[in-house]
Amino acid sequence: MSIRPILVTGGAGFIGSNFVLQWIAAEPEPVVNLDKLTYAGNTSNLSAVSGDPRHVFVRADIGDTETVGRLLHQHKPRAVVNFAAESHVDRSIHGPAEFIRTNVVGTFDLLEATRIYWSALPEDERRDFRFVHVSSDEVYGSLGPGDPAFTESSAYAPNSPYAASKAASDHLVRAYHHTYGLPAITTNCSNNYGPFQFPEKLIPLVIHNACAGKPLPVYGDGTNVRDWLYVGDHCAAVRLILRKGRVGETYNIGGRSEKTNLEVVRAVCAILDEIRPDPLIAQRSSLITFVTDRPGHDRRYAMDTRKIESELAWKPRERFGTGLRKTVEWYLDNAKWVDGVTSGDYRKWVATNYASRI
Ligand code: NAD
Ligand code: TYD
Repeated sequence: MSIRPILVTGGAGFIGSNFVLQWIAAEPEPVVNLDKLTYAGNTSNLSAVSGDPRHVFVRADIGDTETVGRLLHQHKPRAVVNFAAESHVDRSIHGPAEFIRTNVVGTFDLLEATRIYWSALPEDERRDFRFVHVSSDEVYGSLGPGDPAFTESSAYAPNSPYAASKAASDHLVRAYHHTYGLPAITTNCSNNYGPFQFPEKLIPLVIHNACAGKPLPVYGDGTNVRDWLYVGDHCAAVRLILRKGRVGETYNIGGRSEKTNLEVVRAVCAILDEIRPDPLIAQRSSLITFVTDRPGHDRRYAMDTRKIESELAWKPRERFGTGLRKTVEWYLDNAKWVDGVTSGDYRKWVATNYASRI
C-alpha cells in the first residue's frame, strides 16, 4: 500500500509553513497543504518545496466542506493538522467577525468533514487516524506576577476575541473526541518567533521598524510578560505529538522563557546595533515609543510544560538569545520577502492599528 499523506491546514502561514518545511525534510509522508491565502498566508514561504512531489498545495477555506471532503477522499490522509486560523489579537479587537468565521465555524466545518471521512475508514485506519488541533496559551487568560504557570488543567478564561475563538475551537475538538471518538489531540503553545512571521506581530514588527529608523511601538508600560518559543521547536513538538501523543489529551508547549515586552524589544535592538549598525542611530532602543495600551491586554502568560517533557521527552532546543539572533539574521537576509508582504493590506493595517495609539 502506498504511503498515506497528512493534511495540513494553514500551511502557508507562519507556523504552518515552518511545519511543512520541517515535515518534508524529516518525515516520509507527503503533505497536502490547504490554505485560504489570507493576508497572512504566502506561498513564497513554501518555495523550498515548490517542485517537490511530496508537497501538494491547494488554495481553499477550511469552511468549504465540499472541497475539504473531496480532498480527504482523494488523498486519504492518515492525519489532519489544523493550523488555519486568524491569529492576531489586535486584528480580533478591530474586527472579530472573521475570527468567529474561521476559528470557530471553520474549525467546526473541518471537524465535521473529517468525522465523515474518518467514520468510513476501515477499523485499523480509524484507530490510527489523528486530528491535531494547534491552539494557544491565550485560552487560559492572564496570570499575575507570582502565579504558577498554566497547566493542562487550568480553567479556560479567554480575554480577547482571538482567545475566545481559539477556546471555542478547542471545546469543539474536545467534544468531537468525547462524543464521536474522533482521535483528536489539542496543543496549546506560547508565543512563537522565527522566520516567515508576518510583521504585524511584535518581534518582526520591531525588526522591520528598527531597520527603517521608525518608532518601536510598545503598548502600555512594556511590562506585560510573554513566554517565547522558537518556531522550529513548536513544529518538532507537533510532529512528536502526532506520532506519540495520547488521543483525547491536550499538551502545553512553551519555551520556559518568560520576558517582558521591553526586554524583547531591547534584545532585538541590541542584536541589530551589533550586526547592522546604523551611523545615524547609535542605539536602536532610543526608537522605543510607549503607545496607548491594547484594550484588555493580558498581563502575563506562562506555560507549565512538564507533561510533554515527561511523556514525550520533548524540550526546546533553541534558547531565546540564539533563536532571536537567528530570527533577526533571517529578516535581514530576506528583505525581499518582507517587502513582498509589507505592501497593500499591511500598510492599511499599520494605519488602522497605530493611528489611534500614538
Ligand atoms: P498565521 O496568521 O501566520 O497563519 C494562518 C494561516 O491560516 C495563513 O496561511 C492563512 O492564510 C490561513 N487561513 C486563515 N484562515 C483560513 C481559512 N478559513 N481556511 C484556510 N486557511 C486559512 O498564524 P500562525 O502564527 O502561523 O498560527 C498558526 C496557528 O497556531 C493558529 O491556529 C494560531 O492560533 C496558533 N498559535 C500561534 C501562535 C503564535 O505565536 N503565532 C502561538 C500559539 C498558537
Ligand atoms: P503579539 O506579537 O501581537 O502577540 P500576542 O498578542 O499574541 O501575545 O504581541 C506580543 C506582545 O507585544 C503583547 O503583549 C502585545 C505587545 N505588542 C506591543 O507592545 N507593540 C506592538 O506593536 C505589538 C504588535 C505588540
